[in-house]
Amino acid sequence: MWNYGQPTRITFGVGARKALPELAASFGTRPMLITDSALRDTVMVREALASLGPNARLFAGLESNPTVTSVDAAAGEIIENGCDVVIAVGGGSSLDCAKAAAAVAAQGGSAREYHSAGRQLGGKRLPVIALPTTAGTGSEVTPIAVLDDPKTGVKAPMAHESLFPTVALVDPELTVTMPRYVTACTGLDTLAHAVEAYWSVNHQPICDLMALEAVKLTARRLPVVLQDGADIEARTGMSMAALLAGLAFHIPKNAAVHACSYPLCAIYHLPHGAGCAMTLDHFIRFNAEVMGERGKALAQAAGVEDMAALSDVVADLKRRAGLPLSLSEIGVTEESLDELVRSSFVPLMKNNPREVTPSDLRALYMEML
Ligand SMILES: [Fe+2]
Repeated sequence: MWNYGQPTRITFGVGARKALPELAASFGTRPMLITDSALRDTVMVREALASLGPNARLFAGLESNPTVTSVDAAAGEIIENGCDVVIAVGGGSSLDCAKAAAAVAAQGGSAREYHSAGRQLGGKRLPVIALPTTAGTGSEVTPIAVLDDPKTGVKAPMAHESLFPTVALVDPELTVTMPRYVTACTGLDTLAHAVEAYWSVNHQPICDLMALEAVKLTARRLPVVLQDGADIEARTGMSMAALLAGLAFHIPKNAAVHACSYPLCAIYHLPHGAGCAMTLDHFIRFNAEVMGERGKALAQAAGVEDMAALSDVVADLKRRAGLPLSLSEIGVTEESLDELVRSSFVPLMKNNPREVTPSDLRALYMEML
């Protein structure tokens, strides 16, 4: 038995951003645009803000990863300005911050209460229109917001129905100016979502189809955008891959690769996609023996015959993209392995198709050292 549902309305295509003013006006008259500080002065944010009219407000107080504090600050601005619709422009961080702020502003209290103090999110939230400027997290169609709490040291995903954006406005042109390293990290994150949605113990047929298509698109298009970031056809393929992978993983959920990415990113300060890429090719080899015919279909989606060859494809992409290939490169030592193993066993690990024991993981990390 399986279920599939997806409440976010999706508009996709080159130029889709032009629908923003009319769309925002259909939800409210006082829009709040949320983005991060690095994008504040870019043409795309300036244009989006101007298109929303004189009542629009801007919150660009987000520095890299969203924290419960930045969500509270954004929610405070929404309330103070009487905003009635939230526009999220940016990568996964901006989108996650905006999604959480739209819910917290409507439900009251602090993001910290919902993130780590056990308060349950309810269904109330402001409408959210998400415009992704990267092709990676799929946050434009997922009910997930990954937040940090610097005070408690907790970095964890919040997941709730009320965090689904109302509309995803996916315009591949917004990704054209993404720097090469960000393109690489977010592209590998997309591939990790597709692969993990497909091999999760909770996999199901609708998500499988989207995951395989996302693998196919990423294998073909990511090498092209790494070569030429202005190739709009390839950028469109990657925006589509990120969207499909987001739709594919939010029900089956991710597995070992994402479980390991949490400590790798939190302790060794890797971008999320680089943290996923670190173990992706290794878990493709590790899981191969339990995947059977499904493994073959996954490999064939990437244009190769088996999981071993798929692992080589991923390793090659990482090399070409300039992502770290070994754990020692990012500062992991043999002495720190036990701690890394311990902190990798977050709940997502249970979704892995082949059981991972602490000694398996230690051996895997040793190989990667
Ligand atoms: Fe991810």
